[in-house]
Amino acid sequence: MNRVAPIVQNADVGVGSIVLWGVLPYVVLAVVVGGTVWRYRYDQFGWTTRSSQLYESRILRIASPLFHFGILAVLAGHIMGLFIPASWTAAVGVTEGMYHFMALSIGTIAGIGTLLGIVLLVWRRRTTGPVFMATTRNDKFMYVMLLAALLTGLATTVISVLDQSVADYRQTVSPWFRSIWIFQPDVAAMTAAGPSFKLHALWAMALFAIWPFTRLVHAFTAPVHYLFRPYIVYRSRGTGSSSHHHSSGHRGWEPVGTQDRAHGSTKVSTRRKGAGRR
Ligand code: HEM
Repeated sequence: MNRVAPIVQNADVGVGSIVLWGVLPYVVLAVVVGGTVWRYRYDQFGWTTRSSQLYESRILRIASPLFHFGILAVLAGHIMGLFIPASWTAAVGVTEGMYHFMALSIGTIAGIGTLLGIVLLVWRRRTTGPVFMATTRNDKFMYVMLLAALLTGLATTVISVLDQSVADYRQTVSPWFRSIWIFQPDVAAMTAAGPSFKLHALWAMALFAIWPFTRLVHAFTAPVHYLFRPYIVYRSRGTGSSSHHHSSGHRGWEPVGTQDRAHGSTKVSTRRKGAGRR
């Protein structure tokens, strides 16, 4: 911790820095919370990934898990790097060298996996006619923002490796990030961070601000079984059974007011397993 004191004290904290690192994070938080509540109240039917699995599933089957498991690993890395103070890892015997080696190797693999996943997803969207037709301007904008957040993140890692003079993010970005949650934003700490970290944090904040208004909103879906569900929940019509009210205990909902309900002999079931592999 002592190592960082001079960096932070020398930081030139102007009005611009206060706005960017002391005010903006709270504006973004308000937009994320307010936007999510608004979307939930007014657009529950649009609360979806708008899955395109029906149009194409071969590339999706590889690209989607690559992207999603990658981003979960990136998220886990960020939670470690941003929330756990360097003094705690040092206290349990993890040296800075060990920490950064781990962060660099695992983080880079996760980051590149995620990038490869999203590049494949975008390529699929562009080259599969119906998927492209189903892509809105909102989606395109979201992809650009998401890609930029990933690329600026990976750039921070590369730049920190190449340029040893860049201040350690665990002494600058991380204390700033933690300070936001206790409503005492440490503007000086973030001001002392390297330009690549600043760009990355700004881009991440922009991504968070648009999050509730895009397809990304599906990430806030509870319950968690959504993670393991097929992209599209299929309902198949069986024949002959007169007990559709009792026999399909596994289905996720009651078919209120649909044809299925009108014709008591129609069986409605929810396919949970295997559909994602179509
Ligand atoms: C305010 C929010 C965020 C902060 C403060 C932040 C901070 C950081 C820092 C300090 C690093 C360097 C880690 C290292 O070199 O070991 C990093 C790397 C990275 N960040 Fe972020 N980040 C934020 C949000 C995001 C978001 C939303 C994404 C993706 C959508 C993202 C993607 C990445 C990637 C891909 C890397 C490269 C290393 C890795 O794969 O973990 N970051 N970020």
